[in-house]
Amino acid sequence: MPRTQKKGAIVAGFLAPHPPHLVYGENPPQNEPRSQCGWEQLRWAYERARKSLDALKPDVLLVHSPHWITQQGHHFLGVPKLSGKSVDPIFPNIFRYTFELNVDVALAEACCAEGAKQGLYTKLMRNPHFRVDYGTITTLHMIRPQWDIPVVGLSANNSPYYLSTEEGLEEMDRLGRATRTAIEKLGRRAVLLASNTLCHWHFHEEPALPEDMSQEHPQSLSGYQWDMRMIDLLRQGHTKEVFRLLPQFIDEAFAEVKSGAFTWMFAAMGYPEIPAELHGYGTVIGTGNAVMEWNLERAGLSKLASKTRAARRAIKQAA
Ligand SMILES: [Fe+2]
Repeated sequence: MPRTQKKGAIVAGFLAPHPPHLVYGENPPQNEPRSQCGWEQLRWAYERARKSLDALKPDVLLVHSPHWITQQGHHFLGVPKLSGKSVDPIFPNIFRYTFELNVDVALAEACCAEGAKQGLYTKLMRNPHFRVDYGTITTLHMIRPQWDIPVVGLSANNSPYYLSTEEGLEEMDRLGRATRTAIEKLGRRAVLLASNTLCHWHFHEEPALPEDMSQEHPQSLSGYQWDMRMIDLLRQGHTKEVFRLLPQFIDEAFAEVKSGAFTWMFAAMGYPEIPAELHGYGTVIGTGNAVMEWNLERAGLSKLASKTRAARRAIKQAA
């Protein structure tokens, strides 16, 4: 069981993209295909993020992946142990990964219940033979290759793709607030992982040797410029402006943040206006990927919402 504390808190959030190429470039024993090298800037960015995560000593990692698609509602991994082989359907040549992970089922159940209270359709995934998607696996491997911290996996309902972007992201805002409430109630020290690429314009053919870095560059100049604009705003802590621009960014850069993880994470963190730490940026088959960190504990924000609520309760009782 994870260690617990009196009142739970989100201690940090990471933008933690999932191109399987990063696992392929690293050559861990769990992945079958072997590479010579590749995508070092992003892999070394993850190495820096790993150090931060290690220092935070979280009880649980929560990850929202665009590649576990559940069109009927928001689902949560709800089996204590899951294992198997995860294969990327688009890049089976580079990602065939044997995984084994532990789920914080109590927290998954709490997230599911709190999401339902927010008016969302939510469901626990109870199939013990479930094959976890490559997005979840890649993000978790890259941030914590030891696999020694329990996880909660959240599916992508993808509502922004069949509702309007704004309506869909409003659902993700509710899911984020529900996630925070569940974490606080269960007393977990939690880290959130938004498994999203930024600009998602990509090449349609890969080089004969996938890790041929002489072929790797941004697919689109305007997409790259959008990424730099958003990263710069995030590095300055201009969160409100980022969310004002988000629908336009999504439309013009085909940004994968449309699938909701980024909004879910920020809603859970309370949209902090704190400077993000950029661990690194790089392209993968032309898409833009940033590894970024919002360390709420270091910023003194991980307990803020709880304190605010306690203060409100005290005022009510005094009135
Ligand atoms: Fe993706």
